[in-house]
Amino acid sequence: MKVLITGGAGFIGSHLALRLLKNGQEVLVIDDLSLGQEKFLKDCFKFKTFQFEKLNLLDYDRLLPLVKGVDRVWHMAANSDIALGGKNTDRDLKMGTLVTYNVLEAMRWSQAREIIFASTSAVYGEASVRPTPETYGPMLPISFYGASKLACEALITAFAHNFQMKAWIYRFANIVGSHTTHGAIHDFIKKLKTNSKELEVLGDGNQEKSYLHVNDCLDGMEFGLSKSNSEVNLFNLSSHGICTVAQIAESVISGMKLKAQIRFTGGTRGWKGDVARVHLDGSRLQKLGFAPKLDSAQAVRAAVSDILGDSELGIS
Ligand SMILES: NC(=O)c1ccc[n+]([C@@H]2O[C@H](COP(=O)([O-])OP(=O)(O)OC[C@H]3O[C@@H](n4cnc5c(N)ncnc54)[C@H](O)[C@@H]3O)[C@@H](O)[C@H]2O)c1
Repeated sequence: MKVLITGGAGFIGSHLALRLLKNGQEVLVIDDLSLGQEKFLKDCFKFKTFQFEKLNLLDYDRLLPLVKGVDRVWHMAANSDIALGGKNTDRDLKMGTLVTYNVLEAMRWSQAREIIFASTSAVYGEASVRPTPETYGPMLPISFYGASKLACEALITAFAHNFQMKAWIYRFANIVGSHTTHGAIHDFIKKLKTNSKELEVLGDGNQEKSYLHVNDCLDGMEFGLSKSNSEVNLFNLSSHGICTVAQIAESVISGMKLKAQIRFTGGTRGWKGDVARVHLDGSRLQKLGFAPKLDSAQAVRAAVSDILGDSELGIS
């Protein structure tokens, strides 16, 4: 089986690429390296069955012939800088919605009929029901990122229905681990490498979210793929429990063996568009038998040590 991973030089995509190669699949990664890094793929280049194309997915004419040779698409590419998307309001539209349209349209004219999509808890907006199940509505995202992901989901279900495709849509919790390009752990380590005495934390530190280790994320996506086979298969992908931003800051400080003071900037959220309280209900996939190995707090601690142990590949 030949698979395409869009955004495969990013955090989650690079872990996925290596795993699928090890499982004997032929892997094509398309990434423009706007956020990802080629060095995250260094172990992938050791496989003869690996191909990397540096390409902006908005370039449909170059994308189409590449998609024509693949059987399945793992669509991971997107803008992952949610705060920046609130300032440059066409960023998510282009890197999310239009890119997803191009990927689907290219699939339409090729043999690839299966798409696995990396969606997000941000599609729910500020949900009044927590833990939030897949059936929650109305869905009213508060970020351009969440709005784009919701639009992508809708495009995917329409393409699936009209062109005999199958889709697995995963609404991720916050995913953590090595090769991160963004996120609280990444930012805190970066800040502490510059100033080891004080850590500035956006908001009041009480923001609380579900966290999932990247290995559990890959396990969950593969599990869902093997256990469901409808036209559209929709799952929240999350671990148990939640973790506050203040707890993450403490985990990073202690992981780096520092004694830094934490300074909160104040306010209930990190930035406009940030959903301050996210608790995803992952029980739909868990009822099928998926069991994440780490809960939110354990995932955060493991990720701190993964990133610190991988400093030449992650944060420089
Ligand atoms: N990491 C998380 O916590 C999280 C949570 C929810 C959803 N997701 C989703 O999972 C997916 C992977 O996230 P990630 O954390 O690995 O992000 P990432 O930024 O590390 O990876 C995204 C990759 O897409 C590439 N890309 C973006 N626009 C492109 C374009 N136009 N053409 C080609 N390549 C392009 C980037 O260069 C990057 O390598 C994304 O779709 C993201 O929205 C991630």
